Amino acid sequence: MAKFDLRLKDCVEGMASLPEAGVDLVVTSPPYNLGVRYRKYSDRLDRQSYLNWCATWAAGIRRILKPTGSFFLNIGSAPSNPMLPHEIVFQLRDLFVLQNTIHWIKSIAIDNRTFGHFKPISSKRFLNDCHEYIFHFTKTGRVEIDRLALGVPYQDKSNIARWSHTCGRDSRCRGNTWFIPYQTIQSRAKERPHPATFPVQLAEWCIKLHAAPRVRTMLDPFLGIGNSAIAAQKCGVKKFIGFEIDNTYLAVAKRRLQSQ
Ligand SMILES: C[S@@+](CC[C@H](N)C(=O)[O-])C[C@H]1O[C@@H](n2cnc3c(N)ncnc32)[C@H](O)[C@@H]1O
Repeated sequence: MAKFDLRLKDCVEGMASLPEAGVDLVVTSPPYNLGVRYRKYSDRLDRQSYLNWCATWAAGIRRILKPTGSFFLNIGSAPSNPMLPHEIVFQLRDLFVLQNTIHWIKSIAIDNRTFGHFKPISSKRFLNDCHEYIFHFTKTGRVEIDRLALGVPYQDKSNIARWSHTCGRDSRCRGNTWFIPYQTIQSRAKERPHPATFPVQLAEWCIKLHAAPRVRTMLDPFLGIGNSAIAAQKCGVKKFIGFEIDNTYLAVAKRRLQSQ
């Protein structure tokens, strides 16, 4: 029976109470400092204070992560603030090795059709923003991943033999562009009562890429309404820990987990 430990707590304090090097996997998305209207957290720090805070919680993650662990960090930007994700990566350079950079594509346009959702912007300068980053950090840069857990079949089956030295079956690495649309909903208040979530599937793919059977303990320091916890449940993770400072979001996370 999986154990879910979801706590109303500041993650920096919460992580300090966890033992060193006991967590296999961290999947999280912190506030982006873009002025999102959370219920409790104020998303408008000055840039340097925000980056310093990122270094503080990231150091907490480094302490509790196993040497073989993975830390997937989902970060977006705004068209007028494009450097933010890169500044965070730069800020964390003494703590982690950036092993993979994944682009989470929320919407694509093929021929005359669009697939997926994005927030349209009104601008004469900027394009609609249809992607975010998922940075895969590790302690060494040498952590093995299960590329084919997310494999995609070959379009041309003759490639199975041609590329037999890579795996020999009808599956190839998906690569670092992950097309994951948000689920279409009718009522935001009822179905997604949080201003900045990622889809369950995003966390599920991170778990699978790290290799789900290797994940005994997983952590999300910025739990929100618990999409990472639901992914952990779906993938059979043994133990999950989540921190959230807002009791309304935490209550939604607990309720959703129980109703799965
Ligand atoms: C981007 S949201 C995470 C959403 C989550 N991935 C989901 O899908 O529901 C960031 C969350 O971090 C919470 N938060 C902000 N500061 C925090 C802190 N110091 N410790 C724990 N949670 C915090 C906010 O209340 C917010 O719910």
